[in-house]
Amino acid sequence: MRRALHLSSLFFAALTAARDKVFFLGPMKTGTTSLSKLFTERGYKTCHGECAGETWSTMTHAHKADSKSLRDHDAFMDHGDHTDFEWLNQTYPTARFVLNTRSLRNWVVSKADHMRRKRVSAGCPPWGSDCAKDPHGFVSNSNTTIRRWIISQAEHQRRVLDFFNGSRSLRNRFVVVDVEGQSARSLNLLLDWVTRSDVSTRKTTDPVRTPKSVPLSHAVHHTEAPDANSNAHSSDTRTRVTDVLRSLRVPASCWEDTLYFGCLKGMTLTRSEKDILCEK
Ligand SMILES: *[C@@H]1O[C@H](CO)[C@@H](O)[C@H](O)[C@H]1NC(C)=O
Ligand SMILES: *[C@@H]1O[C@H](CO)[C@@H](O)[C@H](O)[C@H]1NC(C)=O
Ligand SMILES: *[C@@H]1O[C@H](CO)[C@@H](O)[C@H](O)[C@H]1NC(C)=O
Repeated sequence: MRRALHLSSLFFAALTAARDKVFFLGPMKTGTTSLSKLFTERGYKTCHGECAGETWSTMTHAHKADSKSLRDHDAFMDHGDHTDFEWLNQTYPTARFVLNTRSLRNWVVSKADHMRRKRVSAGCPPWGSDCAKDPHGFVSNSNTTIRRWIISQAEHQRRVLDFFNGSRSLRNRFVVVDVEGQSARSLNLLLDWVTRSDVSTRKTTDPVRTPKSVPLSHAVHHTEAPDANSNAHSSDTRTRVTDVLRSLRVPASCWEDTLYFGCLKGMTLTRSEKDILCEK
């Protein structure tokens, strides 16, 4: 009897032990709906964009570790490109980090189409910058805006990779995943690894773990749409985005890349934008 009690209290302790938080650093339209479902199924208290009336990414800039969203949840995704990840690392020294991404063209199509639908429902033309009837703004999908999306995402990815490649401890708590280009199986292998309960085990000797770090035989195309909302893009949007990429001189050789800084080669850049290309 005593022994049984002892065992069950151990079990209970294991169940209630605080788990290390997982932060997804990718932008919107990188499979966050699917990731949020997946982590909820895995037993995480998931914060998808907003929770407890707050936007978790905003709380990271405010450095509010005691905010309800950060305190009461343990998996965070959507708008991860608007986080202070350096502060997250300082504040949660054992937290895990995932850069969720997808091919450049598919990401731009998904985001541009999201804006197109918002614009049309606000009574504006499907493409452009201003849309006065939209009360919230943020609905531009003009060529200039698309150009800025690509450059700022490339910059974000560069900063994330430089930071998490910077020490052995960080490399062992970080992965890059391709939410649609890699199979569900290889995606799960990377996510299982980065969320392993004890980071002192199964250490990596890779510089940074990326989809290429799992056996190639697993790397067949993802069979499910990465994002519940993303499978209904009009082919017009795809055609339009392809034309815009061409006119921005984004090299076609990088349209399928999941890390975007290579795409900036060939584009006309300002001096400060050029700095993004400089590797350390
Ligand atoms: C990450 O956080 C740890 C723990 O607070 C700290 O020792 C380390 O210097 C941080 N790393 C970077 C690159 O800021
Ligand atoms: C990580 O840093 C090493 C040098 O320490 C470098 O060779 C490698 O290319 C970097 N990897 C990434 C993905 O930035
Ligand atoms: C935006 O790009 C498309 C596709 O190349 C082009 O047809 C259109 O004229 C461009 N718009 C502007 C305002 O430059």
